[in-house]
Amino acid sequence: MSEQSIFDTPNLKQRDSAHYLHPFTDTKDLSTTGARIITRGQGVYIWDSDGNKILDGMSGLWCVNVGYGRQQLVDAATQQMTELPYYNSFFNTSVIPAIELAEVMTAITPPQFNHFFFTNSGSEGNDTILRMVRRYWDIKGQHQKKTFIARKNAYHGSTVAGASLSGMTYMHEQGDLPIPGIVHIEQPYYFEHSQGLSPEAFGLKAAGWLEEKILELGADKVAAFIGEPVQGAGGVIIPPPGYWQEIERICNKYDVLLVSDEVITGFGRLGKWFGCEYFGIKPDLMTFAKGITSGYIPLGGVAVGDRVANMLIESGGDFNHGFTYSGHPVACAVALANIKLLQDESIVERVGDDTAPYLHKSFMELADHPLVGLTETCGLMAGLVLVKDKNKHNLFDAEHGVGMICRSHCFANGVIMRAVGDRMIIAPPLVITHEEIDQLISLIELSLDQTLVDLKKLNLI
Ligand SMILES: Cc1ncc(COP(=O)(O)O)c(C=O)c1O
Repeated sequence: MSEQSIFDTPNLKQRDSAHYLHPFTDTKDLSTTGARIITRGQGVYIWDSDGNKILDGMSGLWCVNVGYGRQQLVDAATQQMTELPYYNSFFNTSVIPAIELAEVMTAITPPQFNHFFFTNSGSEGNDTILRMVRRYWDIKGQHQKKTFIARKNAYHGSTVAGASLSGMTYMHEQGDLPIPGIVHIEQPYYFEHSQGLSPEAFGLKAAGWLEEKILELGADKVAAFIGEPVQGAGGVIIPPPGYWQEIERICNKYDVLLVSDEVITGFGRLGKWFGCEYFGIKPDLMTFAKGITSGYIPLGGVAVGDRVANMLIESGGDFNHGFTYSGHPVACAVALANIKLLQDESIVERVGDDTAPYLHKSFMELADHPLVGLTETCGLMAGLVLVKDKNKHNLFDAEHGVGMICRSHCFANGVIMRAVGDRMIIAPPLVITHEEIDQLISLIELSLDQTLVDLKKLNLI
């Protein structure tokens, strides 16, 4: 699916590695292979500088919810840039798009959310939550109640607080993290930790790890529990049934604030506007980013539930936190246009009623492949595990990088699928059609077949 390219790819690659330090990248390695340079996008497809058309099974980085090439978002940005490209919300000033976005967010989030703080990213949203929650407990006179409990293999961002809340050891190893006052419990990963329990029993057991940690630390020390409704970067880890209800019950019992990190699951990914609605829980705070602008421009923030917002507001005094670009008018204008598109085209409802069930049916059929030990989906997020022996669920040794072999085949075949160890994951744009899902699945199947051939040649299977 290649078309004539107008780009000088070798030159771009050379210039890329000469000066550009990429995020989460081995720069030495990259300078030998060179980056793949993406030049345009339309719908669910992107094109690289060699003219290859690629089905973006990851919505960029889980963010291009309405797909590429939406003129309405471009027009909203252009109009706002012409009118007022920037002004801040410090020192008792405000801007109209931020006012309107906070109103629209009040309408589309669960009823306990009536106040919104804007940031540039999900990481900054979680930094904001750390500081806001600690201030909340200070105002209440519970100065010891400051510890956050998060989960291993969670991803909450890459700032100091975001990376500390994340449960990725490879991130903690760099930068002496986590910072004090953040602890982690095990993730609810059925495939790895269930030890023969039913999904329901495992859900209760995994949530029980939170209660154990609260009791170990003392409830008077625990400020909040934070989790992604479905862990994204950790490999699309879908919690077992009952897990979130039990987490909520435990948080209520010990007066611990519940934070739902909706940076991936917000704005329709699970077929509901927010992941907490999908799982039927009522968090005190939500982090959002990515899908709020479909990634067209950076914007993140925090939905602050009445319990916390009212306390902060009624106590008076400054909240000494914010960013130059909090409530940036152009970003907010793009978010408004994006949310309008999601509403006008009933995209969230379509995911819930139509495309997510369709993806589920087709993706689950990949379980028949000899390399696949497990397939699971939740909304438009899906993951499969590559295994050596599907009957025994034997995993490959990590050093063989089997996931990366599969990912390379996906790339070469014109589909983006991400590898997290040997878990292969997708989260396509929410506008994906049945026909495009069929294409996605057949490209994945082809890549799995080619991976199998490679593994046989390498005597790994
Ligand atoms: C659940 C979650 N929280 C926070 C973040 C951090 O967001 P950002 O990269 O916008 O800082 C991410 C990014 O992938 C995420 O998946």
